[in-house]
Amino acid sequence: MKLPFLSTEKLVIGLDIGSHAVKICELKRTDKAYTVVNLGSIILPEGAVEDGSLQDPETVGKAISELLTNLKIKHKKVAISISGYSVIVKKIHLEVMEEKQLEEYITAEAEQYIPFDIDDVYLDFQDLKTNTEGSNHTDVMLVAAKKEVIDEFLDMLQGLGLQPVVVDVDGFALENIYETNYPQNENVALVDIGASKMNINIITNGMSVVAKDIGIGSRQLTEQIADTFDITMEEAEKLKIGLIHVEEKQEQIAKIFTSTCSQWVLEIKKSIDLYHSNPANKHLSKVVLSGGGAKVAGLAEFLEKETNVPVEIINPFAKMLVNPKQIDMEYLNTVAPEMAIATGLAIRTSDI
Ligand SMILES: Nc1ncnc2c1ncn2[C@@H]1O[C@H](COP(=O)(O)OP(=O)(O)OP(=O)(O)O)[C@@H](O)[C@H]1O
Ligand SMILES: [Mg+2]
Repeated sequence: MKLPFLSTEKLVIGLDIGSHAVKICELKRTDKAYTVVNLGSIILPEGAVEDGSLQDPETVGKAISELLTNLKIKHKKVAISISGYSVIVKKIHLEVMEEKQLEEYITAEAEQYIPFDIDDVYLDFQDLKTNTEGSNHTDVMLVAAKKEVIDEFLDMLQGLGLQPVVVDVDGFALENIYETNYPQNENVALVDIGASKMNINIITNGMSVVAKDIGIGSRQLTEQIADTFDITMEEAEKLKIGLIHVEEKQEQIAKIFTSTCSQWVLEIKKSIDLYHSNPANKHLSKVVLSGGGAKVAGLAEFLEKETNVPVEIINPFAKMLVNPKQIDMEYLNTVAPEMAIATGLAIRTSDI
């Protein structure tokens, strides 16, 4: 979903600041399609970003600078996204109003819809224009984001000489990139599994009907591997992603994967059940996985078996052009799932 405060014109750099890594994507728009211009990521130290907020702005800033330098990105306008406890997204049902009147209403009445003090948040909204003929009510998407958390990101980025022009929400960026690449007439569950959180968003007719942020993710696997074998998180990470292979540890690692993935699958199933509990919701076509956690070996198959819904891993570049002389295709294919949000941000525009 695109928020209204930004209109057309130039594409911005997509900057996804996750708890495990910062991901960057730069695109170019031609008449026919997007072209991938630049792509990269850098791992952050443990704890630098937690619960969707910056714990160590200096370290994160340095990592972003390093990544921009490595990728030779000169462009200053960036789009970031937020998630977790610092942002509330709520759909409210209101009488149809003119834009100006709606703005006044939201400013005056937002407090009743969100659990934060109104002075502490940035507010945004979009009339989804769901009023059908004869109905004088419409759905309005209300977004409230904690100023304290947003300002910390903005200050850090401005300190690097960047110009943050878009602040999006992870779930919206994902929805946008999905809709850019895939047919829009299907009901799908978009599930992003990052290092420390899982975002579930079930979309029907381009509208989100179930949305959830859950504090579980692929770091759980790293922690359990580190605990089990009494090794560092760095070593555990390498074992987890298969960068190193120690035969006598594989059985235990497989057990850790199975028990943790069962927990993830259970959460996804709960959301699908919630979706189906509303008889108005039609058949769910598929589950689309993104984020680094989507790459856990065997997860997609396991989820498919448990839910009876086809599962696929997102390719945010499915309809985009890529010049193999500019972009390493093997790298692009490997990082595609965790690049989904950064790519969803890179299709945002700025006329500032
Ligand atoms: N092949 C793999 N198998 C299992 N896990 C993987 C694999 N590749 C990457 N990961 C994990 O994915 C996570 C990183 O994914 P991603 O970049 O989507 O997270 P993030 O955006 O930084 O985190 P979050 O969104 O939770 O803040 C790490 O925990 C990493 O270990
Ligand atoms: Mg993430």
